[in-house]
Amino acid sequence: MSTVIVLGAQWGDAGKGKVVDLFSERFDIVARYQGGHNAGHTVFIGEKKFVLKLIPSGILRPGVEAVIGNGVVIDLAALLQEMETLEAMGIAVSKNLRISNRAHVIFPFHRLIEKMSEARENRVPIGTTSRGIGPCYEDKTGRRGIRMADLFDPESFRTMYDVLAADKKTLADTFQLNEEIDYAAIRQQTEEYAARIQSLVCDTAVLLHDAMSHGKRVMFEGAQGTMLDVDHGTYPFVTSSSAAAGGACTGTGVPPTKINGIIGVSKAYITRVGSGPFPTESKDAAGDLLRREGNEFGAVTGRPRRCGWFDVPLLRYTAMVNGFDSLVITKLDVLDHLDEIPVCVGYKLCGADVHEMPATWRALEMIQPVYEKLPGWRTSTRGIARYEQLPERAQSYLKFLEGKTGVEVGGISTGPERNETIIRPGSKLDGLI
Ligand code: GDP
Ligand code: IMO
Ligand code: MG
Repeated sequence: MSTVIVLGAQWGDAGKGKVVDLFSERFDIVARYQGGHNAGHTVFIGEKKFVLKLIPSGILRPGVEAVIGNGVVIDLAALLQEMETLEAMGIAVSKNLRISNRAHVIFPFHRLIEKMSEARENRVPIGTTSRGIGPCYEDKTGRRGIRMADLFDPESFRTMYDVLAADKKTLADTFQLNEEIDYAAIRQQTEEYAARIQSLVCDTAVLLHDAMSHGKRVMFEGAQGTMLDVDHGTYPFVTSSSAAAGGACTGTGVPPTKINGIIGVSKAYITRVGSGPFPTESKDAAGDLLRREGNEFGAVTGRPRRCGWFDVPLLRYTAMVNGFDSLVITKLDVLDHLDEIPVCVGYKLCGADVHEMPATWRALEMIQPVYEKLPGWRTSTRGIARYEQLPERAQSYLKFLEGKTGVEVGGISTGPERNETIIRPGSKLDGLI
């Protein structure tokens, strides 16, 4: 039995979708444990391009069961739309998808509340994806949220909904939110949507435990990345869920004792979308080159991603928080054209060495990265699927990252396609998947 967590080691968009899709060939179940349709994973299979938001990337493999865990927040309209799009592309979503009865529901007013909150005077905007994710999690931890199971008990749902709606009305009035919100119409539409997916909703913790007790292999798919984790990320410029490895347990009901391995996915450089500190951001032509070569534009919002250099202290930090067994380094090919590649190997603050990740965003904004420059290889690595075939300098770059971060580089991605990947034989990664 193998039970592994695959998650982002940076600020998201590291290519988790590609990696999970590739690995899911060897798993029976792929389970998402947090986030919602703020995530965007682009996966290429031959000529076809899939964009997954809420549905686990494992859905693309026939025969693999995809589970949306209790830690995920669900916008029913977005879910149904994603299901329809995938079904139209020949994916058997209704057959293979299961949804936790404990997952919370995002309502349209969550989006409006978020818009209002981001626009408030004197508030530093987070630059969210505007999907209502944060306000839904606020209702969850505030113990007034509505979960999937509640939707199927009409009487209780109506009472809970009316109380929640009354809260939101008060909030909207207090903050002079002028947009009309038709609460009754939202309630009715929610009931209609819920009926359409009722057969997919179950206790997914029981489903996962049963499957594991029968020796089935489960992969947990993280959305976002560790630096966007609500506890361990660059707070408050984070998402509102537990993207780090611990979230896989709370977000699915599978205990830590059942996890066999943890795999971090990181780009060979780094990107971030939205606001917040970013020590190795390159705002000059080199950053533009990374954006162009890496096609660094958000899959959900289309926003240009901020680009910068691989950050060793950050990776060491996310390795500490998650306990990575192995790393998959993606988008190596994006660095193919560079003469030299800066890598941040240390942080300084007011001239002094910094050994811990600063807890405040203001301190992190003042960090001065210390760089080492490694020679570029200036030849194409695109599509290379064997480590020995990588140019020597690319191998040296990967060895450098491995040495500095203290984590094995077990996998390397050299292009968006499934076969554009190296899995190093004999690596811990090879043993886990
Ligand atoms: P995720 O959110 O972590 O799943 O990542 P995204 O899908 O948002 O962003 C990664 C983008 O890089 C996608 O468009 C992928 O198709 C693409 N991609 C993934 N791996 C590679 C790679 O090794 N090389 C290149 N050039 N593109 C890649
Ligand atoms: P995947 O899974 C990159 C960022 C937003 C914003 C912050 C909070 O594709 O890696 P939210 O809407 O979650 O409240 O926004 O988090 N963000 C992401 N950045 N990749 C993602 O997902 C992200 N999901 C949220 O840009 O800065
Ligand atoms: Mg993404």
